Amino acid sequence: MNSTLAKSQSLPATDHPMVPQPAVITHVQPEAQGVTTYTLGFRDPAVREAYSFRPGQFNMLYLPGIGEAAISISSDPAEPADLRHTVRIAGNVTQAVSRMEVGGVIGLRGPYGSSWPVDRAVGDDLIIVAGGIGLAPLRPAIYHVLRHRADYGKVTILNGARQPADLLYPQEYDAWRSHDVEVVVTVDRADETWKGRVGVVPILFYALRPDPKRTTVFTCGPEIMMHFVVYEALARRIPKDRIFLSLERNMKCAVAFCGRCQYGPTFLCKDGPVLSYDRIEPFFAVEEF
Ligand SMILES: Cc1cc2nc3c(=O)[nH]c(=O)nc-3n(C[C@H](O)[C@H](O)[C@H](O)COP(=O)(O)OP(=O)(O)OC[C@H]3O[C@@H](n4cnc5c(N)ncnc54)[C@H](O)[C@@H]3O)c2cc1C
Ligand code: FES
Repeated sequence: MNSTLAKSQSLPATDHPMVPQPAVITHVQPEAQGVTTYTLGFRDPAVREAYSFRPGQFNMLYLPGIGEAAISISSDPAEPADLRHTVRIAGNVTQAVSRMEVGGVIGLRGPYGSSWPVDRAVGDDLIIVAGGIGLAPLRPAIYHVLRHRADYGKVTILNGARQPADLLYPQEYDAWRSHDVEVVVTVDRADETWKGRVGVVPILFYALRPDPKRTTVFTCGPEIMMHFVVYEALARRIPKDRIFLSLERNMKCAVAFCGRCQYGPTFLCKDGPVLSYDRIEPFFAVEEF
């Protein structure tokens, strides 16, 4: 096992966790309708040098006079200077970010939160299940697994979107496959160009025969999708503490101070967003908790 990641600490961009650091947009990559990936570089070389993150963590993106939004880091944790965020237009901040171009400056504080347990999963088979923009916080874990492929057993990525045009990062799937990773893609609704599978993502589980004693599941996507993923994983006797979900709730401080993101006894900004199912089961079962 490569222990670089295990040893590395996630360094905040500043000494004060609430102070954003200016970061310059160096590349803009349209991904799908209303979804764009922004590559950011810290303006201060010392901050750029010190910054690191773990797969699944997020940053707070700040636009003066508009506000802040929690956005997952979607790039390779081994290349923290090449920091990417995949943003879907939702409200004020993301709308304003969508109007920005290369050279624009965004305030950034982080990284925050828990991460996909890529070290704990060493030696396991992995099933990574993504729906829509849920692939963004999973992509750093995928990059980590590709870099350390020999550390894992069978790796399967199940990915879905509402329609073909909404699939994230399709240009990367073949590269992932070339590392002995099975990538299975489905869409809810096909169009005339689509020759692949049609149906919701959890259905892809039907073809899998995982060994429950050595399988870990990572999933992120719409909560209704994750409910079915958990159901299918449990039906295959994968233990609750081997099923990891990334949960999303409104966030404000991101440092476990304001209580905005409280989810049962946990604060999703600090204890989450990645949590094992055994920790959240009683709340996850309650609709709109
Ligand atoms: C840990 C974490 C990771 C995340 N990662 C990503 C990511 O990688 N990419 C991404 O795109 N998003 C991500 N999000 C979601 C993102 O943080 C939210 O969509 C955020 O609210 C966007 O901020 P905003 O100011 O653009 O939208 P907001 O203004 O907060 O609006 C968000 C939603 O609320 C609605 N809304 C806003 N104001 C009102 C109102 N007054 N009344 C009723 N409805 C209202 C809007 O219509 C919209 O649907 C993540 C969230 C979390 C918690
Ligand atoms: S966002 Fe303030 S406690 Fe989590």
